[in-house]
Amino acid sequence: MRRKLSLFFLVTLAALATAGIAAATNGGLTPESAHSPNAARINTAYYLILGFTGAIFVLVEAALVVFIWKYRSRGRPRTIEGAQVHGNTRLELIWTVIPVVILAVIGGFVFYELPGISNVPAANAGDRLNITVEGHQFYWQFDYPNGAHSIADLHVPVDKFVYLTIKSPDVNHSWWVPQLGGKTDAIPGQTNHTWFKADRAGTYVGQCAEFCGVFHEAMRARVIATSAPEYESYVSSQAQKELGRSEFQGVCATCHGMQGQGAYGPNIASNPLLVQPSGLAPIVRNGFGTMPPVGEGWSDAQIKALVQYAKAKIYKGAAASGG
Ligand code: CUA
Repeated sequence: MRRKLSLFFLVTLAALATAGIAAATNGGLTPESAHSPNAARINTAYYLILGFTGAIFVLVEAALVVFIWKYRSRGRPRTIEGAQVHGNTRLELIWTVIPVVILAVIGGFVFYELPGISNVPAANAGDRLNITVEGHQFYWQFDYPNGAHSIADLHVPVDKFVYLTIKSPDVNHSWWVPQLGGKTDAIPGQTNHTWFKADRAGTYVGQCAEFCGVFHEAMRARVIATSAPEYESYVSSQAQKELGRSEFQGVCATCHGMQGQGAYGPNIASNPLLVQPSGLAPIVRNGFGTMPPVGEGWSDAQIKALVQYAKAKIYKGAAASGG
């Protein structure tokens, strides 16, 4: 009796503890709302599968409860056997054919949706915006057609086909902004592509979806969709102005702290190398000790932007270091 009571207590606790998780997030079982045609198709496929699996779950659990109740032992001795039933052609056909039909419907529907998810709409090939996405340890870099770069925030015009070329110079990452489509891996030595078309202005959040090292969780991304003129003004001037700050805050600060004061990595605020382009470039591009080559492929202009920001906002002077 005591054991039964404590078991009941444990089960109740577990049920209470998990109920909140099940009810959390937007609706619990529903995916993020779609704001790009490919994301909408992924959601449609999700809901079809959810419908089948939900119905099967209810059916199986209900049958389980009914059978447990209806065929309980009612105090009969354990040694008594029930009626022996062998074969029922009709039942066996039914429970073979129904799952085959369900799988065929799901498979057929997914193949019907797939081209609109993975293929770039061909008609728009000439009228699309091409942007390169680089997954680095531990940030996302975006390269725009005019040569501008941004870190962590991807700026795009609303209602425009954006064609992404996805690369990684170091380890496997995965680009994922759920409201704008599925995951696309960023793999060293392999170039992948995906696309989206944001249907409303706003900010869409994403996160690297492939475990890539100690600061995997820091690899968040935002897609900021604005009007075409705002986008043009961003890439033609604002991106360059923000580059140094976003490099420091999005790349260096992850390990060294927002003021370079030291966190996971050492204090760099007082290190003179921080403000010497010739000294900083090889460390940033090639890595140093346990520091990964965070700026692999960075141009001189990108290094220069970082040094300018560090000079203005971070560097405290060698004298302040105190060793
Ligand atoms: Cu990049 Cu996880």
